[in-house]
Amino acid sequence: MADDASGSNKTRVLFVCLGNICRSPLAEGVFRSQVEAAGLTDKFEIESAGTGSWHVGERPDARAVMVAREHGVELDSRARQVRDEDLQDFDYLVAMDRENLLSLQRMADATGGDAEIVLLRAYDPDPEGEEVPDPYYGGVGGFEDVYQIVTRSCEGLLVRLRAVATR
Ligand code: 4NP
Repeated sequence: MADDASGSNKTRVLFVCLGNICRSPLAEGVFRSQVEAAGLTDKFEIESAGTGSWHVGERPDARAVMVAREHGVELDSRARQVRDEDLQDFDYLVAMDRENLLSLQRMADATGGDAEIVLLRAYDPDPEGEEVPDPYYGGVGGFEDVYQIVTRSCEGLLVRLRAVATR
């Protein structure tokens, strides 16, 4: 748990992908709804960001918004790029793929940040792959696949983090 200027002791989780308009906003929205369903909203601070800057300020991709909405999850983030301070301010940086993971590890090496950096699919009970595939250049079906992967993996992540957040 990080102590911020306001004295908050929430467990802070930042989901990270490349553009912050497809995978990490989905993970943010899904994890937030799972945390809410578990009655743990006041225990977590949840955000998402991208390692790239191309889409800064944009709403999530319309296909991500549509698929999430079909499952009862609203996405309300605005894309932003990962900042050096995130490596200090968040307890867990949760990367969608190996490239994101490497970018974060390099930033942590440069800044001395001590956030725990993990791959989201390390928490996927279905060991089909270790990355959340990038759906940006594909069709809507790819977003549904991402939704399913993210939902399973976030459930696994919450099992681990609820123990941290409620101790
Ligand atoms: P995301 O998907 O990393 O899941 O948000 C992408 C969005 C945009 C781009 C690549 C991936 N892009 O190249 O613009």
